Amino acid sequence: MSSLLTMNQLTNEEIFMILEDAEQYRLGKGWKPSNMLFVSNLFFEPSTRTRFSFEVAEKKLGLEVLNFSSEHSSVQKGETLYDTIKTLESIGAHAVVIRHQNDHFFEDLIGKVSIPIINAGDGCGHHPTQSLLDLLTIKQEFGGFKDLTVSIHGDIRHSRVARSNAEVLIRLGANVLFSGPSEWHDPLNIHGKYVDVDEAIEKSDVVMLLRIQHERHDQKTSVENYLAQYGLTKEREKQMKNHAIIMHPAPVNRGVEIESDLIECGRSRIFKQMENGVFARMAVLKRAFQQSKQKQEVIKHVIC
Ligand code: CP
Repeated sequence: MSSLLTMNQLTNEEIFMILEDAEQYRLGKGWKPSNMLFVSNLFFEPSTRTRFSFEVAEKKLGLEVLNFSSEHSSVQKGETLYDTIKTLESIGAHAVVIRHQNDHFFEDLIGKVSIPIINAGDGCGHHPTQSLLDLLTIKQEFGGFKDLTVSIHGDIRHSRVARSNAEVLIRLGANVLFSGPSEWHDPLNIHGKYVDVDEAIEKSDVVMLLRIQHERHDQKTSVENYLAQYGLTKEREKQMKNHAIIMHPAPVNRGVEIESDLIECGRSRIFKQMENGVFARMAVLKRAFQQSKQKQEVIKHVIC
């Protein structure tokens, strides 16, 4: 399957292949198509990192980027997502990158469009390219995943990052701990054990913080005392293992899930994650084109 919709569609072998390709791109090497390929980025929800790192990845690969704005498109006239994708496919797009507010938006598209779909985040569902860049960051730090303890903190229930990461980290041999307010525990995410924030931080090799997903809550959530109760304070950072790192998919709400000064501290890999996002997305685009039904048309040669 050339589309990338969720992490659980990838075998461990495919994940390691993508991570290796991403590493090659980081080193300035890797596959590039020799003929003109069009990719359209459709973002129906706000994004800074995912949107622009896809665009940089596409440009580094020499792809032609068709940026789409739902406010200025025929979505405003009632056109469906399916008809929008079919239109782009007809016009000549070779792949689409989609972020959408609906969980599993892609289910209505599977088998109906012939170009690869890359999920750039679906509601509370999945965020596979975020997961791949997180895995790349962890692998660069620790060389692998087996027996690492990764704690994921905060709004687990509404987080597509927690969902994508917990399943794959367990599959790759890591231990996953969750911590956060009980109302945001996720009964459907069975891949981690819930523990107290201090216990999670002391035991972790990777402390992964999450933003509170206010936009997905029915009621307004107060952030008063959140940092002291559930967040990474300077006091808690001192309890981390010497080698442990801090991660966050961002955007960060400074002073809410993490104390502002820790965002760029020595153990933070938050901006490293963003840097890795470009390379992971280059590797995902490569995979999409290499596995595409249009393979024979699009792949002319490999540059190493
Ligand atoms: N991490 C992430 O998905 O960030 P954006 O919402 O800015 O793309």
